[in-house]
Amino acid sequence: MTGAVVLALAAWPAAAEVAPARQAKLKDMVAQDCGSCHGMTRQGGLGSPLRQEDLAKLSAEAVIETILEGRPGTPMPPWKAMLSREEAAWIAAYLMGELK
Ligand code: HEC
Repeated sequence: MTGAVVLALAAWPAAAEVAPARQAKLKDMVAQDCGSCHGMTRQGGLGSPLRQEDLAKLSAEAVIETILEGRPGTPMPPWKAMLSREEAAWIAAYLMGELK
């Protein structure tokens, strides 16, 4: 289990910088804040679905940029005032199923 986490994170060096206590907060944020638009189980709502299979079409970098910058002209807000790049990378890895 621990070994798998370290292996998965090898592809996501920035995400590995996020401390465990902060990771728990980010998980809550994904469920509550992102969930208010994307659905608690990421099935979609006002925002598009964010399940692993829905994001498979995007690169990690595209997901990270979307989180930090938002999508101008859509309700997707930028999160860079609240999240560092490392934290956005951690969320991207979490959403894309890289942190199992
Ligand atoms: C106020 C509503 C709202 C909130 C809150 C929100 N989003 Fe979004 N998000 C959207 C909408 C709407 C889109 C679709 C934009 C478009 O049409 O391209 C989107 C798109 C995205 C995409 C691109 C998905 C794709 O398939 O192209 C990602 C990734 C994403 N959001 C992640 C997040 C994350 C992570 C959070 C929480 C930190 C979050 N969003 C919070 C509304 C929201």
